[in-house]
Amino acid sequence: MFSALTAQPEDKILVLMAKFREDPRPVKIDLGVGVYRDARGHTPIMRAVKAAEQQWWQEEETKAYTGLAGDPAFADAMIDMILADTLPRSNIAAAATPGGTGAVRQAFELIQMASPDARVFVSDPTWPNHLSILKHLGMTAIPYRYFDAATGGVDAQGMLDSLQDLRAGDVVLLHGCCHNPTGANLNTAEWQAVLALLTEKRAIPMVDLAYQGFGDGLHEDAAATRMIVEHSPEALIAASCSKNFGIYRERTGILIATTQDSDKTAIAQATLAHLNRQNFSFPPDHGARLVTRVLNDPALRADWQAELEEVRTGMQALRRDLAAELQRLSGSDRFAFIAQHRGMFSRLGATPEQVETMRAQSAIYMVGDSRINIAGLNAETVPILAKAMIDAGV
Ligand code: LMR
Repeated sequence: MFSALTAQPEDKILVLMAKFREDPRPVKIDLGVGVYRDARGHTPIMRAVKAAEQQWWQEEETKAYTGLAGDPAFADAMIDMILADTLPRSNIAAAATPGGTGAVRQAFELIQMASPDARVFVSDPTWPNHLSILKHLGMTAIPYRYFDAATGGVDAQGMLDSLQDLRAGDVVLLHGCCHNPTGANLNTAEWQAVLALLTEKRAIPMVDLAYQGFGDGLHEDAAATRMIVEHSPEALIAASCSKNFGIYRERTGILIATTQDSDKTAIAQATLAHLNRQNFSFPPDHGARLVTRVLNDPALRADWQAELEEVRTGMQALRRDLAAELQRLSGSDRFAFIAQHRGMFSRLGATPEQVETMRAQSAIYMVGDSRINIAGLNAETVPILAKAMIDAGV
């Protein structure tokens, strides 16, 4: 049986992680995988998460299974963080998943079950794993125009033009904030225009929300998602706690299904539980407990939000510093978009050859499409990257 297997295409982000590890040069800069790092290059456990873990270690009395959809208190806390009071709880189904990727996978499978002919429209570019999972499931992915390489911003008109091809029941995958890989995001008026078109076409929005709190703020980063849920008869949200709680390896995420017809909530909820059972049975619990505790305990929550703000504003400062250094070295404003971008990533606009030159000559690692993880930088490496970019002819 095994001899019939063929090699699968490699994930370019994971390949880059391995290449970086193997590089023997003493000074090397990892701007690859989307993992937050502080100025020392360390991925810290957030203070409130550590405190919650200590409390929970004392209190936990059993490791018996939770429900198929996970602990209901986790769902309530996450729904409150993401949607606040946008919709009554009776209109919302939710199930814990292994990370945000697990939520994306379950969402695609739900779409496939409910609507086998639905096509999933994805931004060009999008997170490579979106495309890979859709392909694995045999689903149709249709790219819509998104990034304007000339300005480093969103090609909003191009996006609307592409979405004219939507058919009723198609799904549009949207990055709720902090677009991965480009860092370029829609403004409020553009979100409204996209939403009006989805409504007109009777297409279903699916939001990937992996970086809430990394862009303009915890509340601000949920604004587009709330608007979508408020105005759409049905919507799906795949949310991750990996980044904003820094619990990457705990695999903590949630799939939320919203409907304006509360009669549909029960079947949506049962389907989410069923899908969990088919794929992995019960979702991981430890990270979800920590998140619930942090969100529900006022002191822990305040500390967590303060630390998240430090992370967010630190990345903003690095963006400003990099844009300013590039302005100084190039004598032009053509890199100003880096300071406008939000979240962990920016697509710099370098060619694959220039990316390779920076890796070979300066041991700077970024994804081949020139996506950088801003949090991989610090005050010392910002000028190194800027110089390498100019030297490589970016
Ligand atoms: C990324 O885009 O780098 C992160 O979402 C990590 C991953 O799994 O790819």
